[in-house]
Amino acid sequence: MTTDENVQDQQGAAAHQPGLENLLHETRSFPPSREFAAQANVHKDAYAWAAADRVAFWADQARERLSWRKPFTETLDWSDAPVARWFADGTLNACYNAVDRHVAEGRGDRVALYFEGEPGDTRTLTYADLQREVSRAANALASLGVTTGDRVVIYLPMIVEAVVTMLACARLGAPHSVVFGGFSADALRSRIRDAEAKVVVTADGGFRRGAPSALKPAVDEALAPRDGEETTVTNVVVVRRTGQDVTIEPGRDLWWHELLETADVLHEPVWVDAEHPLFILYTSGTTGKPKGILHTTGGYLTQVAFTHHAVFDLKPETDVYWCTADIGWITGHSYVTYGPLVNGATQVIYEGTPDSPHQGRWWEIVEKYKVTILYTAPTAIRTCMKWGEDIPGRFDLSSLRVLGSVGEPINPEAWMWYRRVIGGDRTPIVDTWWQTETGAIMISPLPGVTATKPGSAQVPLPGIAATVVDDEAHPVPDGGGGYLVLTEPWPSMLRGIWGDLERFKDTYWSRFPGIYFAGDGAKKDEDGDIWLLGRVDDVMNVSGHRLSTTEIESALVSHEAVAEAAVVGAADETTGQAVVAFVILREDAAQALGTDDPDQIVEVLRSHVAKEIGPIAKPRKVLVVAELPKTRSGKIMRRLLRDVAENRTVGDATTLADSSVMDLISKGLSKP
Ligand code: WTA
Repeated sequence: MTTDENVQDQQGAAAHQPGLENLLHETRSFPPSREFAAQANVHKDAYAWAAADRVAFWADQARERLSWRKPFTETLDWSDAPVARWFADGTLNACYNAVDRHVAEGRGDRVALYFEGEPGDTRTLTYADLQREVSRAANALASLGVTTGDRVVIYLPMIVEAVVTMLACARLGAPHSVVFGGFSADALRSRIRDAEAKVVVTADGGFRRGAPSALKPAVDEALAPRDGEETTVTNVVVVRRTGQDVTIEPGRDLWWHELLETADVLHEPVWVDAEHPLFILYTSGTTGKPKGILHTTGGYLTQVAFTHHAVFDLKPETDVYWCTADIGWITGHSYVTYGPLVNGATQVIYEGTPDSPHQGRWWEIVEKYKVTILYTAPTAIRTCMKWGEDIPGRFDLSSLRVLGSVGEPINPEAWMWYRRVIGGDRTPIVDTWWQTETGAIMISPLPGVTATKPGSAQVPLPGIAATVVDDEAHPVPDGGGGYLVLTEPWPSMLRGIWGDLERFKDTYWSRFPGIYFAGDGAKKDEDGDIWLLGRVDDVMNVSGHRLSTTEIESALVSHEAVAEAAVVGAADETTGQAVVAFVILREDAAQALGTDDPDQIVEVLRSHVAKEIGPIAKPRKVLVVAELPKTRSGKIMRRLLRDVAENRTVGDATTLADSSVMDLISKGLSKP
């Protein structure tokens, strides 16, 4: 494929997200109310202040929002670009900043966490309670030999222990790697192996959709010897949550409650350098192998704390904040565990699904805890729209004062519904663009400053340099479209891909030398505001979860019945994109599959993907075809497959090696 074909193929993906065509005709705008603007944490002058000296601006934030054990004297060292060093000669501890200092400064009685379990059980922890819990957990992990630098994998439901374990690791300077509970044993195994983890913290299970859902068996499977390879894991700590039966392997597995019972409630945090690794979080890239995104301590905490304060206008004494993300994703790291706690916020965490036991559960929680700031994903908003506005209408949502959106482009219809039905036509909406790699919010309106536009993330935050460029890296004029890039280093930027510096350089810094390529398509409107248009690479976004087409293709071809596979993200009204797979079966497929019934074949292959990666990656549709459309150089033209998956007339197929292939596919699929 030539570069042009590539770009054409990729932009096809961006252009066909649901409702995004409407984006460019959107002209509504909602300025902040006078009252909101007057009380806002951050005012317009922050942009000019930061622009005057970006580096000094971040140094001020680092001093103001964090407690340093040893103050830093250097702010940014970019001499080894693209690996940045921020505040490198300072020392601190992330857990101390999130917990202990609030107690030390007289805020120990403030509620840190309101936990709401799916079955309706609750727990309330003040900052002082949290300090005791994290100290005991840190002592417990230390008793298993976990020390500074060791990796701990966390595979837990959305329960208090998840936050406590992350913080306990941070307290020890032991980087955590959280694996989302919806990932399979195989996905867990590869992450444990890549991170060379010493300990895994898990639970018997968690509650989802009214039933216990097991986790521990996946850990057992992930650690079982395979191909003569020894695991690096010496211990597994198991939280009892659901009471499901679990196998306890003597010498390796320990119950959390037994281990913590005897652990001391005092623990001295380990002071680490600002550039000490805080966590590794695996995310999908354009190849089959997930990338371990590495974040360090001082810069990451500075930016999550600043953005949480500025974008959500947090008033820690009076707000009740709720971010619905699971800690398995970056949003849960930055805007459940670290940002809010470093800022001393009171927040809600909820274990289950929005429709358990009824479709008003979220709104019931907002009413019960008088939530003032809600941060969620467009896919959830669209799901609630589908259920109907009379459901939130039954609850008192008048406590809400700021609404946030993250994870995928939000279409204007969903944005307007969110504002009107959930926000009572008065709350500002902040549409926040960022990535696992950026660590914290990068582009977003400021609720007391920006006149918001439905569907646009609009402006880089103070201290952030982002723009839209064309193929030659030239910034596009207002009204133009191209690729989103970040042109200056920022404090919470990834410091690399775990164990693979070359891949880090190659993935983000080689497309346009010296600037960060985000992988998103974007436009600038006539006011210069940025509108995100979706990925321009082989990454899909399903319900705000990042999935790699290549990873799902590898999972499919790992089944002995499959000769070849191509996966595309097709536009979907609710989930943004849905996974659609095209597969070519082997001659002897029926034997390998144990069936020749077309419906059963599809089911077997869907379940196979769920087993290999996790239920979130399960294709919506699997289409069995005789050929795949390829260019002369052998690259699959996904653009054409997307046309088929979205029931459109197939576009320009002239660059195919064999132009009859698309006819064959279309005909084959229209057969009864
Ligand atoms: C997409 C999630 C449009 C984007 C924090 C990005 C968005 C990817 C937005 C990162 C938004 C995230 N508008 N698109 N407000 N927020 N994205 O790593 O494609 O799970 O590259 O981080 O989600 O997904 P990730």
